[in-house]
Amino acid sequence: MAETTLDVLGMPKAEAWGQLEAQLGALLEGLDDIAAMATISCVVHHGFGHLWTGFYRTVEPGLLRVGPYQGILGCSEIAFGKGVCGTAAAERRTVIVPDVSRFANHITCDSRARSEIVVPVYDAADRVLGVFDVDSATLDTFDAVDAAAIERIVRWFRR
Ligand code: SME
Repeated sequence: MAETTLDVLGMPKAEAWGQLEAQLGALLEGLDDIAAMATISCVVHHGFGHLWTGFYRTVEPGLLRVGPYQGILGCSEIAFGKGVCGTAAAERRTVIVPDVSRFANHITCDSRARSEIVVPVYDAADRVLGVFDVDSATLDTFDAVDAAAIERIVRWFRR
């Protein structure tokens, strides 16, 4: 399918997510988990232009390994409970960090990162399939609008 990568920068946030979600609705049809992760990472990363956008997958109990993403090299593995990703996975909750320098447990992979959001991803059996992580170069980038939109998008993996 020939699709253009949307650039939603400069739009009100809710409208931007609405456009990306509509596009993803069509793009994700019939994909498997890995292809869907790659597609979501691409659409969200190029839509907003954030630093790093992608998935960590649960590969064994208590361990996340880097999955499909866009951006510079990420950490290869993160244990549940470590960093923002591991906290979201262990506590099964979305974590918004307005200022990473104030998050004691933060794992720095890119010194330009200033704020981030990590959303747990569940499978049909309600297991933590992994997490979706978006890192921004500016402080206080993410809020409840981003959390709700990302949570709606990753509900796809519960199919
Ligand atoms: N900042 C994250 C890890 C980021 S990446 O490796 C891209 C964390 O603390 O979980």
